[in-house]
Amino acid sequence: MCGIVGYVGGRSALDVVLAGLQRLEYRGYDSAGAAVLADGGIAAARKAGKLANLQKELAERPLPTGQAGIGHTRWATHGGPTDGNAHPHLDNAGRVAVVHNGIIENFAALRTELTARGHELTSETDTETVAHLLAESFSSCGDLAEAMRQVCRRLEGAFTLVAMHADDPGTVVGARRNSPLVVGVGGGDGDGEYFLASDVAAFIDHTRDAVELGQNQVVELRRGGGITVTDFEGAPADVRTFHVDWDASAAEKSGYASFMLKEIAEQPKAVADTLLGRIDSSGLLTLDEVRIPVSVLREVDKVVIVACGTAYHSGMIAKYAIEHWTRIPCEMELASEFRYRDPILDARTLVVAVSQSGETMDTLMAVRHAREQGAHVLAICNTNGSTIPRESDAVLYTHAGPEVAVASTKAFLTQLVACYLVALYLGQVRGTKWGDEIGDVVRELSEISTQVEDVLDTMEPVRELARGLAGEAGMNTVLFLGRHVGYPVALEGALKLKELAYMHAEGFAAGELKHGPIALIEKGLPVVVVVPSPRGRSVLHGKIVSNIQEIRARGARTLVIAERGDTAVVPYADHLVEIPATPTLLQPLVATVPLQVFACELATARGNEVDQPRNLAKSVTVE
Ligand code: F6R
Repeated sequence: MCGIVGYVGGRSALDVVLAGLQRLEYRGYDSAGAAVLADGGIAAARKAGKLANLQKELAERPLPTGQAGIGHTRWATHGGPTDGNAHPHLDNAGRVAVVHNGIIENFAALRTELTARGHELTSETDTETVAHLLAESFSSCGDLAEAMRQVCRRLEGAFTLVAMHADDPGTVVGARRNSPLVVGVGGGDGDGEYFLASDVAAFIDHTRDAVELGQNQVVELRRGGGITVTDFEGAPADVRTFHVDWDASAAEKSGYASFMLKEIAEQPKAVADTLLGRIDSSGLLTLDEVRIPVSVLREVDKVVIVACGTAYHSGMIAKYAIEHWTRIPCEMELASEFRYRDPILDARTLVVAVSQSGETMDTLMAVRHAREQGAHVLAICNTNGSTIPRESDAVLYTHAGPEVAVASTKAFLTQLVACYLVALYLGQVRGTKWGDEIGDVVRELSEISTQVEDVLDTMEPVRELARGLAGEAGMNTVLFLGRHVGYPVALEGALKLKELAYMHAEGFAAGELKHGPIALIEKGLPVVVVVPSPRGRSVLHGKIVSNIQEIRARGARTLVIAERGDTAVVPYADHLVEIPATPTLLQPLVATVPLQVFACELATARGNEVDQPRNLAKSVTVE
């Protein structure tokens, strides 16, 4: 939520900042702004709406290029998405500029105090108070990093701040509490150049060397003078450096019409990369990075999975796998509900936190609560250097590469793979009987990326169907049904359609149909049904075939996703999408893909911007 960029070095700061904002626009697109230090002062521009509006403004009224600059792309919290509320915010003298991600909870009191001292605040934002406080502190201490520390000590809430001062033109400072911020260390013109950003994608064109900042830290970037990191009291802090394992091309559309299309297409590779090196030739799992001692894992008597949105759906599927393969009770919980219901946790509880970004505030708070109660926390995450893995006991990284489209696709599939690996690993270390089923699952999991590819190769009928539905007048509802692991897949299909096509879409457990939702069925209503394999759990299969008959008898149009060769569904399918055969528990890896394609195509046909759906932001860093 909100993207922040800062730069100091020998290049045009304006160009670096604008290019960085372009890469971060997925974090919020309510407004954008930039400021540069040039000619002894600060020049700034800001505009409501997408970054394109700011670029247009800059084309008409250019800013100087500058050698230090900051920029912001906003997802509005305090104050509507107007020019006046767009960042950067400046003090009354125009000597300090600041950008901010997060919420400053005590801003009303700070605002009253500043107004009483004669400051004039012109926006509705919480951020503007920081610009004024920084100006005051700087005028008394003359040191921007120290001024930032003084101000941070007064702020309540979660925030990332990046600021600069016209009287200290070679410096940019940043502060971090909860919201993400990373430093990029570049070679530049030999004099040293430094970047600050919410996400490494903002500076990946210039450097892949990064420094992770911890909670409650202030960083000072000084051109030619290196970086200094302290806590809010001024004590030097230890920092971890890391090298980003993907390059700029991974953050580009590479000829696809949208990032979402590219990311859907990348799924076979993302799945294969996430499995790479984690299953040995004898079918045993080698998860050395899970640094929770085996002795602890053997004693685990309950697993609790916490996550939000799409990641929550991956956790729902993990619950089926963990309980079936390990016989350990597993609870799945929305991270936003978790800590408020006073969950029962102790040292024998393993909490698994699933998060693509590693920054989702609800999930982070759940992780903290779990650790405070003595539970062990394992993160499943896609973002190196992010907060949730930092604050967990161990992490299993998914290797999806950067996911730029706001709606999650490839991250979801890799989260599923990681969840299966965790479930199988728990079974392995605890000596759960490894019968034929587990052997088959490990073998099939090792080859699953080919099956995902197979699905992608057969998606044209799904696209055609989606385009047809998009053009139908009054077509505003689609229902999704599934049983067993098909139920979370149905929920995920509905979520994708909601967020991309802005349609009423709901997922149900098919068994619940007769307990209420069947009343929604009317003539012509499209209902997507995810059918389990007719092999294995054939009882489930028979039951869902009956459900399809029931809704069809009431006029529904059935869009059936079923295993290739499943002849039982053919008479009841108005549209049939065939997927390859997999073990039941792995079916979500292939069954979800048509639903992603369906939602993406339908939304595109309706003229929606699939990479940046309205009102959303990719990384939700406020509760
Ligand atoms: C939906 C989507 C969101 C995220 C959720 C959690 O397409 O992307 O529902 O899954 O906001 O985000 P992470 O995984 O970053 O914690």
